[in-house]
Amino acid sequence: MGCDGMIGKLIGKGNTAEVIAVGDGKVVKLFNRGYPLDSVCKEFENSKLLHGLELPTVKSYEMVTYEGRNGILYDRIDGESMLDILLHTEDYEKYANTLAKLQKQMLACKLGGAVSLKFILKRNIEYTDHLSMPNKAKLINMLDSLPDGDCFCHGDFHFGNVIIEQEQNYIIDYMNVCRGHEYGDIARTVYLIEMTPVPAAQIHNTERILFMKKQATDIYLQEIGVNRECLSEWLLVTAAARLSELSNEQTDEKNSVLEYLSKQGL
Ligand SMILES: Nc1ncnc2c1ncn2[C@@H]1O[C@H](COP(=O)(O)OP(=O)(O)O)[C@@H](O)[C@H]1O
Ligand SMILES: [Mg+2]
Repeated sequence: MGCDGMIGKLIGKGNTAEVIAVGDGKVVKLFNRGYPLDSVCKEFENSKLLHGLELPTVKSYEMVTYEGRNGILYDRIDGESMLDILLHTEDYEKYANTLAKLQKQMLACKLGGAVSLKFILKRNIEYTDHLSMPNKAKLINMLDSLPDGDCFCHGDFHFGNVIIEQEQNYIIDYMNVCRGHEYGDIARTVYLIEMTPVPAAQIHNTERILFMKKQATDIYLQEIGVNRECLSEWLLVTAAARLSELSNEQTDEKNSVLEYLSKQGL
């Protein structure tokens, strides 16, 4: 359906979409112009997979279009993202623990019907222009040797993808949901917390943010009960696959991934 005439206040913005109130306790996640329809359909399909699970996710209704942009209608959560609250309170101990607890709940669910995490990692490693063919071959060999798993992996689980409404946490953003080994999803979260650059808006506070990133990751790993050694190969393939997601403007992150890979002999 279209949603002309229903559009209201902008209540959130991510890298791929704006989230706009549309009345009736709902929002539309309106993807950026030109964002691939396939990916929007994937997020909608993934959101449907979650409806039967006992998890604090947000219910989706239908796909919509507005002025040529594709969107998905979701229930509205009247709260703030965990990332904003964390930056405001600096209580990384509390939120790193909560993040780990939420992820353990997800990982305890099986998600047979979803796409495989290893398939996505492989596709992304093959796709990037920033790796040599021999390095791609080494990474794909490494990936092949890792276990498949069939856990519910969120695929993009970080502080910005949890909304808190009156002390209740809601997991959002289902574009990258897949089935895989728990270490794969945990490595992706470690990458997203610890290895992504400090956002431009926080640049004045770089040292403090870097300190909190490291502390939050350590606390998160302790709570989730996995040590860094178990994740080392997963982190390598996750960082390599990340290269295919980065735009031309994200040169800092691209360079830090390449530096990390080269320190690991790639
Ligand atoms: N159902 C919702 N109710 C209220 N706010 C939301 C909802 N979904 C997303 N948001 C807000 O919009 C932001 C971006 O949404 P998200 O799905 O994470 O988009 P992206 O894929 O671009 O990261 C979130 O951080 C949150 O602040
Ligand atoms: Mg998001």
